[in-house]
Amino acid sequence: MPERKIKLTNGGKEVELSIAESTEGPAAVNISNLYKKRGYFSLDPGFVSTASCRSQITYIDGDLGLLRYRGYPIEQLAESGNHIETAYLLLNGELPTQNQLDTFAQEIRSETKIPSGSWELMQAFEKEAHPMAMLMAGLAHLASIYHSELDVFDEAYRQRMARRLIAQVPVLAALGYRYRTGQDPVDPDPELDFTSNFLHMMFGAEPDPLFSHATDILFLLHADHEQNASTSTVRLSGSSETSPVAAVAAGVATLWGPSHGGANEAVIQMLEEIHASDVSVEEYVEQTKNKESHTRLMGFGHRVYKNYDPRAKLIQKICYDLLEKHGEGNPNCPLLETAMALEQAALNDEYFVVRKLYPNVDFYSGIILRTMGIPLDMFTVIFAAARTSGWVAHWLEMMADKQFRIGRPRQLYTGHTQRDYVALDQRD
Ligand code: ACO
Repeated sequence: MPERKIKLTNGGKEVELSIAESTEGPAAVNISNLYKKRGYFSLDPGFVSTASCRSQITYIDGDLGLLRYRGYPIEQLAESGNHIETAYLLLNGELPTQNQLDTFAQEIRSETKIPSGSWELMQAFEKEAHPMAMLMAGLAHLASIYHSELDVFDEAYRQRMARRLIAQVPVLAALGYRYRTGQDPVDPDPELDFTSNFLHMMFGAEPDPLFSHATDILFLLHADHEQNASTSTVRLSGSSETSPVAAVAAGVATLWGPSHGGANEAVIQMLEEIHASDVSVEEYVEQTKNKESHTRLMGFGHRVYKNYDPRAKLIQKICYDLLEKHGEGNPNCPLLETAMALEQAALNDEYFVVRKLYPNVDFYSGIILRTMGIPLDMFTVIFAAARTSGWVAHWLEMMADKQFRIGRPRQLYTGHTQRDYVALDQRD
C-alpha cells in the first residue's frame, strides 16, 4: 500500500504528516515531527485519541465486543487454553508446543521460591492494612533483592525477570492474605498447576477443581487489555530503564484505583446494598439513570466496549456453574439472583440501550471471587496477579523495540508568564 499522508495547513504553511498503518483498527496520524516542523504540540487529555505506542500483543474492537491476544479470540483461549499457556503466548507471540509449554511451566514453578524476608516484611504491616499496599511493599523488597542483577538491555535478564514476576506476584498476594487472616504462610506445591497452586498458597488445602478452573479463566481473561492505565504506567515507568519489578509495583499502584481495578468490589457492595434494602431492582435501576443521585449501575458500561464485554459473557457461565455446585446455603446465591434481575432490567431499558451500556467483566467476577471465599479487598490483588503477565509482556515488547526511548509527554502550559519575586513583607 502506498504511504498515506495528510496535510495540515496553518498560517499559509503546510505540513505533511504520514499515516501509521495498523493491521486492524484505526490507523494513526504520526505527529512526531509536528513540533519540529511547525512548533506545535498535540493536546489530548486522557489519551482519548492518542496511541502511545505500536503494539502486537492485544487487539480490542470495543464496538464489536472483540478481544484477541496475539490474534487469538479470547473465547477460543478460554475454551481450550489455560492461563500459563496464555502467559507464554503474551510473552512470546506464539502458542507453545507441548515441550515449550512444559519448560515454561517448570521455569515459572521454579521461580515461586521467593527470597526470604518477604514474610517478615508482611508481618510489619497492621492486620487491617490494605493488601494492595502490602503487594507494593513486597515488590519493593523484591526489587531490592534483584537489584544487583539489573541489566534491562540483556534479553536473558528480561525473560528471567518476566517469569519471576509472573511466578512471584501470586506468592506475595497469598502471603499478604495469610498474614491478614492470622495464618502461617503455605509453601508452594510443585505438583500443582499454576492457579491451583495459587489457591493452595492462599487457603492451605488442595482446591476444588471447579474453583481452580474458575480462577484460571479469571486469570486468563484479565491477563491483558492493551494500553489501560496500569499497563501504560508499567511502560512509562519501565522506559526510564528502571527495574521491571519497580515498574510492576507502579502498575499495581495504578490498578488499585476504583476507576480501574476496584470496580468488582463496588459491584458486590451494590448488590449487598440492594439486597439489604427495601429498594426493588427496578427502583434501583431508575436511581442510576438520575444524574442527581450520583449512583451508577456498577459493572455496567466501559470506556472501550460499546457492546457486551466478551469477558463478561465468558465468566457469566462460570458464575452459574459455581453457584450451581456451591450455591446451597451460600450467601452469594441471592446476590447472583439480584445481579441477573439487574442485568435483565438494564438490558431492556432504553437509557442503557441508547448509551450502549452493557455488563462488563466486573459484573460477574466479584460474585465468583466471593463464592470462593475471597475477601472483598483481595479482589484487586487477584486482578494484579492475573494482569502481571500482560504487564511484563508489554515491558518486554517495549524494551525490545529498536525505537525505544524514555517516555516523556509534553504539556500545554497555561500558567503565569514571567513575573518578579515579591519580598515576604510586601505581599498582600
Ligand atoms: N450507570 C448509569 N449510567 C451510566 C453508567 C452506569 N454504569 N455508565 C455510563 N453511564 C451514562 C453516563 O451518565 C453518560 O450519560 P449521559 O450521556 O446522559 O451524560 C453516558 O452513560 C456515557 O457515560 P461516560 O461516563 O461518558 O462513559 P465512559 O465511557 O467515560 O465511562 C465507565 C465508562 C467509567 C466504565 C462508566 O460506564 C462507569 O462508571 N461504569 C460503572 C463502573 C464500572 O463498572 N467500572 C468498570 C469498568 S471495566 C474495568 O475496569 C475492568
